[in-house]
Amino acid sequence: MLNLMTGLGNIGGHLGGWRHPASWNCTAMNLGQHIETAKLAERGKFDLLFLADGNAVRQMDKPALFEANSPSDRPSVFEPVTLLSAISQHTSQIGLLATATTTYEEPYLLARKFASLDHLSGGRACWNIVTGSYPGDSLNFGREEHVPRAERYERSEEFVEVAKGLWDSWDEDAFVEDKASGRYLDREAVHVLDHVGKHFSVKGPLNVARMPQRYPVLFLAGQSEQGKELAAKHADCVFSVSADIATGKAFSDDVKNRLDRYDRAPESLRIIPGTSVFVGSSEAEADDLYEELQSLISPAVGVPYLSKLVEMDLTPYPIDGPLPDLSGEVVGISSFRKNIAAMAARENLSIRQTYERVLPSMGHVLFKGDAVQVADQIEEWYRSGASDGFMLGAPVMPLGLERIVDLLIPELQRRGLFRTEYTGGTLRENMGLELGVSRNVLAR
Ligand SMILES: Cc1cc2nc3c(=O)[nH]c(=O)nc-3n(C[C@H](O)[C@H](O)[C@H](O)COP(=O)(O)O)c2cc1C
Repeated sequence: MLNLMTGLGNIGGHLGGWRHPASWNCTAMNLGQHIETAKLAERGKFDLLFLADGNAVRQMDKPALFEANSPSDRPSVFEPVTLLSAISQHTSQIGLLATATTTYEEPYLLARKFASLDHLSGGRACWNIVTGSYPGDSLNFGREEHVPRAERYERSEEFVEVAKGLWDSWDEDAFVEDKASGRYLDREAVHVLDHVGKHFSVKGPLNVARMPQRYPVLFLAGQSEQGKELAAKHADCVFSVSADIATGKAFSDDVKNRLDRYDRAPESLRIIPGTSVFVGSSEAEADDLYEELQSLISPAVGVPYLSKLVEMDLTPYPIDGPLPDLSGEVVGISSFRKNIAAMAARENLSIRQTYERVLPSMGHVLFKGDAVQVADQIEEWYRSGASDGFMLGAPVMPLGLERIVDLLIPELQRRGLFRTEYTGGTLRENMGLELGVSRNVLAR
């Protein structure tokens, strides 16, 4: 069974999405639109609603792009756990995936927030563990530059272990609330963590009772060596940045082959590529939406957008010439630069052609066609072992998600690839995930 998720962004996933005539107006800080998205996704029986995040206003050094507002820049958005807590009160089944960084947060505060979300939602919390894609975040946390990748991941690993330890603070039946005896809680049922490590010193216990899922579902986004190893050790799901099946399969095999080291079965870790879905009631309808959105992007926005993705200023280079050498390491997201450079070299693309190719899917997979055609592509990915599910991105909101829910999901259900009803009480149950990798296993 596929694991499917979709995003909560009100402006859609295409850079031109918010300008489309069918897109929402007044999208900034619009809770009503977020709730509508959540209800629509729950009608589609999605596993998860995803909210990416950062802690800075981005791209102010790229004025044209800043004014145009790229979907991944988010100049005015809700803090994810806060927003998903609100949404939890308007939904009953769908999982709530909030992004939070291990680079600048503190494990105690974060463990408390996610435990609260899990209680508030009846066991639907999910944490997207990120180490931070945008160097500018560091300026809001007392630093002058982005923390180097190795240090971010080292801190991240200790952070996750501390958070798990805190989530194990209370046994399930700790709060007995016995009015007759006057005993509110069982003091034998609380565990003090006493963690002292390189990055954190945390006494514990957590001041939140054991959550319904024990641990939130853990998601990871990193694609580097350190990212893959951390995913193999701790994550239930990992994003995959792969534009074709061969790359997706290589990534999946690579991460799943690491699971043995942690006594984990291959099905305990789900590989979820990002996608952008242009689905229509006919192939022509899907093509029309695609062309309409592409026509809304001028080079003045397209080139800085590509620059941002590859983390190199491309504006001094001729737009109809090739990309410059992109072989060096970046501080942010390693996979975007690597994949985009490989695609441009393989297909001999100019800067203009490259941004036109990257725009609709932001370097992720592009699915386009009628419902049968898109379902064929999804099924091929899934059956070839390149993915266990997808982040189905809607280029325009709410039109794109309505089409996914009304056209694509029924076709996937008809093929037996996706649920027709939620069957579990918690997100872990709905996704068929165990309670989480035991810390005792990790300590070996
Ligand atoms: C698909 C994807 C989504 C990501 N989402 C976020 C995000 O929402 N917020 C964030 O700060 N970092 C995000 N990141 C950045 C990662 O957490 C990580 O810091 C970065 O990718 C560098 O690690 P890597 O080289 O291992 O990929 C994302 C990365 C990927 C690949």
